[in-house]
Parts: sequence; structure tokens; C-alpha cells
Amino acid sequence: MENLSRRRVLTLGTALGLAGVAAPSTAWAWSSAGSIARTDTVTDPWLVWDDATDPLVASLLENGQISGVNTAFESWVDNGDALPAGLPANLVTYLQQVNRLPSWADQTKLAAAAQFNKRMSLYLFVLYGLGSGIMSTVIPREARNVYYSEGGAVMKSRAAKTFTYGYDLSAPDAFQPTGHFVVTSNKTRLTHAAVRHLLPQSAPWQAVTDNAIPISNGDILITFHSLGTYVHGKLASWGIRMSAREQDAFLHQWQVALHLLGVRDDFIPATWAAAKQQSQYALTPLLAPTPEGINLANILFGLTSEIDLGVTRGFLHEFARYVLSDRIGDWLRLPRDLVSRALIEIAWPAYVRFREGLSPILPDGFSMMDRFVRGLAMLFLNNGTSPDYTPITIPTGNRPG
Ligand code: HEM
Repeated sequence: MENLSRRRVLTLGTALGLAGVAAPSTAWAWSSAGSIARTDTVTDPWLVWDDATDPLVASLLENGQISGVNTAFESWVDNGDALPAGLPANLVTYLQQVNRLPSWADQTKLAAAAQFNKRMSLYLFVLYGLGSGIMSTVIPREARNVYYSEGGAVMKSRAAKTFTYGYDLSAPDAFQPTGHFVVTSNKTRLTHAAVRHLLPQSAPWQAVTDNAIPISNGDILITFHSLGTYVHGKLASWGIRMSAREQDAFLHQWQVALHLLGVRDDFIPATWAAAKQQSQYALTPLLAPTPEGINLANILFGLTSEIDLGVTRGFLHEFARYVLSDRIGDWLRLPRDLVSRALIEIAWPAYVRFREGLSPILPDGFSMMDRFVRGLAMLFLNNGTSPDYTPITIPTGNRPG
């Protein structure tokens, strides 16, 4: 099947006139010795998609079966739920194989990760939301894919669906029968497979893309680094106490998440050191602005500003600059607000020190920072738990218009 995918890439790549076909110009050189498979090989994950899922979803789309699947999926929520009635037989067979944790999943570590997520929750809301969320707009392929896919035109509901994923991942019972994360991951994996079939049919996407088929294993790894690896590094740089066990558990949760999204074990980093190395190699050099990403960032800031967090939009821009760098802020053309920046530079580290028990002095600006982080948390939680709960649905088209 890999050969088939490669052939498809070459054909599409030629049709699109892509010089480098599917991969960035440098060849992949991260050895899988640092992966959980521990095999010392170098396979290019930018040329690996999801052979188990892609042909199946393509046929469901071609046969007009996806809207029926989305309807049947409405009642499929808990990991322990039986597969819903009314699914096509080939989808049932597929889900019976993939709707489970990998053999190497460690429930003790997953339980420790849940505890860690709880203890870190306020920081996680801030970092996943204003850090990773905005970083996704300077990952060119991701920005373009999101912009030209169906959900790109309705970012509020798309953001809510992404919150659903984050909420389900961070829930105390995420990987238990009462949790939702395994089901949510499977829906996401199917969604990605649909995007792989649909986006190559989008003329505006074709006009800007540097890859013939979107969302390769390499692309998913990059997004993981913008989430897990980035957050882990930020927490460490803020001086937040994390035991070796907690750090390992947090990584393990992401390793399982990557597996459930169809990433091969020989690409999944085994340690944070290996993850960091892969991230420096695969994510950092690829960050860049695009018109699509600038547009999406603007929309995301607009959505965040709709909630009263007790801070101005200028503050939000500066906070994103603070956690991501001014370089990224400049790429996204975020207007400067130097007064807010001066406040953040002093008040945020003091807030963290106080919360972590590293300083007994209640800092100036504590209540303002507290309202801000709690407001962000509510924004996230409301989308995850209230009647606003937005289930993930498989798209059947691209961005209209
Ligand atoms: C859809 C998560 C990687 C592009 C989704 C959804 C989730 C999700 C939860 C369903 C919600 C929705 O429809 O918006 C993730 C996670 C990733 C990842 C956790 C990696 C750890 C990527 C990458 C790309 C991508 C690498 C592109 C380069 C998309 C697109 C959609 C989507 C285009 C469909 C949007 C639509 O048309 O509705 N992803 N994703 N994702 N994802 Fe990902």
C-alpha cells in the first residue's frame, strides 16, 4: 500500500507541478532508534499516510455513506460503548481492529498523566490555547489545510471540536471505558482520512500546497510537537515542579494519542529528549507565516476576545507573543501593546512562582492574571461539557466558495 501511496503522490505531484513532491526539501534523517519501536531505520514520515484508513474513507465518501456514518456516530461517545448500529460493514471491521489501546499502553502511566493534567490544568489551558493554538497558524501546511477544508469557513465550531479533543484527552477517565478519548481519536483519524481524499480536489488548496496529499505521519508529528513537546518545554522553562514520573506519564499519554491517530510506532519518540530532538529538526525550521495562517490567527483572537477574560485584545496578542516569541507575533502581524507586555513580563512569572509555592508574596496583578487564566479555562470547559458540546464529524466537502 505504501507503494500505492507513493505512486499517487508522484502522479498528483506531477499534476500539481511540485518540484519536491510531498516532502520539504531536506530529507528526513531522524533515526527511529529514538522511537518507541527502537529500530534503527530512517523512513520518511512525510511519505507515510494512513493505509489502514485512507482507502476505506475514500470509498465511503465516494459512495455517499459519510452522512449516515456521522448520524450513527452521534450515539458513539464512550470508549466502552458498543459500535453503533447502522455502520457499513467495512467500517465495522476496521473499527473492531483499531478501536482499542495499543498493546504497549500502560494504564498506570495513563492514570498518572490524568493526575498531572489535573494539577497542571490552568497552565495547560493557557499553553494549549494561546500557545499551541496560535502556533498552528504558523505551521504552513496545517494552516493551509485547515483554511481550505470544510471547517476552515466555520472556525468557531472547528475550535469547539478541537476543544472536545483536548477535553477528552485531559479528562480523568480519558482512557477508561467511561472516558471518550479512544472514540474521539478514531473519529479524528477518520476525519483526517477524509481530508486526505477531499483536499486534493480543492483548486485553491492545490494552488498553494507543497504536498500532494495532506496530513502525513510527519505532519501529525509536527502538530504533536506544537502541542505536547512545546507545552512540556514551557512548563519546564517556567520552573514548574514536575517529577520524572509525571513527565514520563505526560509523554506516554501523547504516545498513545499519536498511535490512535495512525502514527507508526517507529516515528513516535520514546523519550522527551528524543521528542525535543525531533521537534527541533521537524517543527522549528518549518514555522513560517502564510496568508491563510494570518487570517486564521485573526479569527482565533476574535473568538477569544468574545469572552470576557478581564483583559484587552492587546493583552491577548502580547501574551501570545510572550509564549511564542515576537518573531511569530510579527509574522502574524499582531499589533504591539507595550504596556500590556511590560505587565506580563513581570506579573506572569510572579503569578507562577506564587501558585507553585516558590514565593510566599502575593504579587501585584495576581487577581487579574487569575481571572484571565480561569476565564480561559471556562472557555475551554464550556465547549467540552455544556450543551455546546460539539461532536467531531467527518467532513464531506472542502471550504465552500
Ligand atoms: C480535524 C486533531 C494533526 C488538519 C481535526 C479534528 C481534530 C484534530 C480533533 C476534528 C475537529 C475538526 O473537524 O476540526 C488533530 C491532532 C493532531 C492533528 C490532535 C496531531 C497531534 C493535523 C495535521 C493537519 C490537520 C498535521 C494538517 C497538516 C486537519 C484538518 C481537519 C482536522 C484539515 C478537518 C477540518 C474540517 O474540515 O472540518 N484534527 N489534528 N490535523 N485536522 Fe487535525
